[in-house]
Amino acid sequence: MTLRFALVGCGRIAKRHSELLGHRQIAGAELAAVCDVVPEKARRIGERFGVPSYADMHEMCRNEKIDVLVVLTESGLHARHVLELAPYRKHIVVEKPMALTLDDADAMIRSCDAHDIKLFVVKQNRFNVPVQKLREALEAGRFGRLVLGTVRVRWCRTQEYYDQDAWRGTWALDGGVLSNQASHHVDLLEWMMGDVESVFAKGMTALVDIEAEDTAVVVLKFRSGALGVIEATTAARPRDLEGSISVLGERGTVEIGGFAVNEMRTWQFAPALPGDEAVLDEYSVNPPNVYGFGHQAYYEHVVDCIRTDKQHLVDGLEGRKSLELISAIYESIETGQEVPLRFAPRRCRLGQPAQPGNDA
Ligand SMILES: NC(=O)c1ccc[n+]([C@@H]2O[C@H](COP(=O)([O-])OP(=O)(O)OC[C@H]3O[C@@H](n4cnc5c(N)ncnc54)[C@H](O)[C@@H]3O)[C@@H](O)[C@H]2O)c1
Repeated sequence: MTLRFALVGCGRIAKRHSELLGHRQIAGAELAAVCDVVPEKARRIGERFGVPSYADMHEMCRNEKIDVLVVLTESGLHARHVLELAPYRKHIVVEKPMALTLDDADAMIRSCDAHDIKLFVVKQNRFNVPVQKLREALEAGRFGRLVLGTVRVRWCRTQEYYDQDAWRGTWALDGGVLSNQASHHVDLLEWMMGDVESVFAKGMTALVDIEAEDTAVVVLKFRSGALGVIEATTAARPRDLEGSISVLGERGTVEIGGFAVNEMRTWQFAPALPGDEAVLDEYSVNPPNVYGFGHQAYYEHVVDCIRTDKQHLVDGLEGRKSLELISAIYESIETGQEVPLRFAPRRCRLGQPAQPGNDA
């Protein structure tokens, strides 16, 4: 049986999703319909792939035979849309970040559970070939005691990028580099290094005029006792430089670099195992763009989990976990204090409606 996917939101990232589903690049999946409140955007994608297009997601859900709804709307609207769509009892894939507040994330998880549907959060970088290989080494215990984990995002997003849509860089609908571009890397760091005990962060808006930060640095302490560093900026000029992760343990070091955590740069362990010397060649894949190759493997995972009713790798609870960490980082930037986790926000502005005087 082929699963029928329908897109809610036909903006920039919908191009990637529609190409994979519309060109039948995912075995067992096809594009069924698309919608956008801007009808022209939906029509363009609908016509390209020969599927019906709608301006209203409810009308699409009532008229079409759909197995999975894919929510690709502005980040601050994900929660509202998932809550409105869950009663149709179709599985839901939602782009990252799943929501901007922990209350919203909790409501989404509860609603999908209540309607007995799966909630998938897109974290395609977890499926990058070198990232999977790193995870395999961790699960095999090859690092021994973990010492240090670092992620670095040095991308270029100019004023022109932020100006193309009013929601970008706003607290209410997007946040800054941490909640948007670096949310993948924050997720990867926690996935590899385990639960976080506390964070201390500084942020600033360096080179563009937006509400939220374009540059931040974070020091983390993990429950394991290891330390971590996040360096995230969209103020790299004149072009993207890197998206990387390094994990250092008492018996080995792995570094994955490239633009999108896609290139194995260092793979060294003592003791070494047969095959270690080939890893740099075999597990390095250059991405065509900053989204990487992961969306394809991600969708294959979604199809597999639905078909076999398997537990999926990035569900609502996993999506919530990185949101909790990002919210704690924002709280630290606001308060100037080290923030412990588990965590309930007091001063974090992410996802809060604009208020007079509530500027960056
Ligand atoms: N995984 C990744 O690497 C990746 C990359 C880029 C963007 N994203 C995420 O994808 C989401 C969308 O980003 P984008 O750059 O495509 O934004 P965008 O502004 O280009 O697209 C969002 C679209 O949603 C539409 N929309 C809003 N409300 C709607 C509704 N009720 N029904 C139907 N359509 C509606 C808008 O009209 C718009 O066309 C964001 O959450 C972003 O963080 C993820």
